Amino acid sequence: MPQTLSKMGLTTGHAPFVEEARSRGDLYITQPYELYSEENHEAWRRLFARIQPRWEQFANDHFLRGIDALNLPPDRIPRLSEVNARLEPLTGFQAKPVSGYVPGFLFFDCLRRREFPTTITIRDKDRMDYLPEPDIFHDVAGHVPMHTDRAFADVLVRFGDCAHTAAELAAGIEDYGERARRLTSIMRAMSRFFWFTVEFGLMRGKRGNTVAYGSGLLSSYGELQHAIESEEVQRHPLQMEWVINQGAEIDHYQPLLFIVDSFDHLFGLVGRFEQWMRAGKLDNVAPGLPEIQESDLRSFMEAENLVTS
Ligand SMILES: [Fe+2]
Repeated sequence: MPQTLSKMGLTTGHAPFVEEARSRGDLYITQPYELYSEENHEAWRRLFARIQPRWEQFANDHFLRGIDALNLPPDRIPRLSEVNARLEPLTGFQAKPVSGYVPGFLFFDCLRRREFPTTITIRDKDRMDYLPEPDIFHDVAGHVPMHTDRAFADVLVRFGDCAHTAAELAAGIEDYGERARRLTSIMRAMSRFFWFTVEFGLMRGKRGNTVAYGSGLLSSYGELQHAIESEEVQRHPLQMEWVINQGAEIDHYQPLLFIVDSFDHLFGLVGRFEQWMRAGKLDNVAPGLPEIQESDLRSFMEAENLVTS
């Protein structure tokens, strides 16, 4: 490995290894562990030490068990191969290193195969709270511990099934404009549903309290407490017709969060989401955030061959 690359580290926004992979068009990459700088490990150490007491207070039990089961190191960035050696026997899931954003259909298709697209870079150690894009702390400390839980892992796979159903339904629509319009609406509904559950979901705790299971919360020191305790946050039992029509804002703490009873409950909701999709009930959801990117739409349009097999 050239000396210059190893000196640069794998910092979000400053990771030549990742940028070179992107410019070659390589989405799936390796985790070149020796490229992490001492500052990168220091960032992980600080993030982990700072948030740990808040996990004890505000995280759901499945997540806490997952942290133990994975034996994530508090003092250095984890090797994905070590994480996967513990994770795979539990639920079949694996963290799969990627160079950046994975277009919608491909992302959900990975989940269906029990692969989780995982960012390998880490935020700058002096910008602990500023997160312009996911990093390895969000993905491995926020998401991956949840993947040790069988019921939650099955929920993710069902999201993958929903993406296949969406692509299948779209493939049956002759008119290109109408296909794009309906698919955009379904994708918007699916992004919102995923956002308010897998990324920012709350659930009922054992003692009648509310705990977090969404990874955006579990990887954010500030927002985790805010989500559970702040009077500024509205918390409601999850209602499908609300969630699919609710704009998802990404640049500030969430003012509105939804609560599920359990992962079995959530699994049932994803099933209902799929039924609604088949019944055409997702074809006209409220416009607004998130914007659907051209690359995401294309990924669903081009999925036709994958879903007919
Ligand atoms: Fe995430």
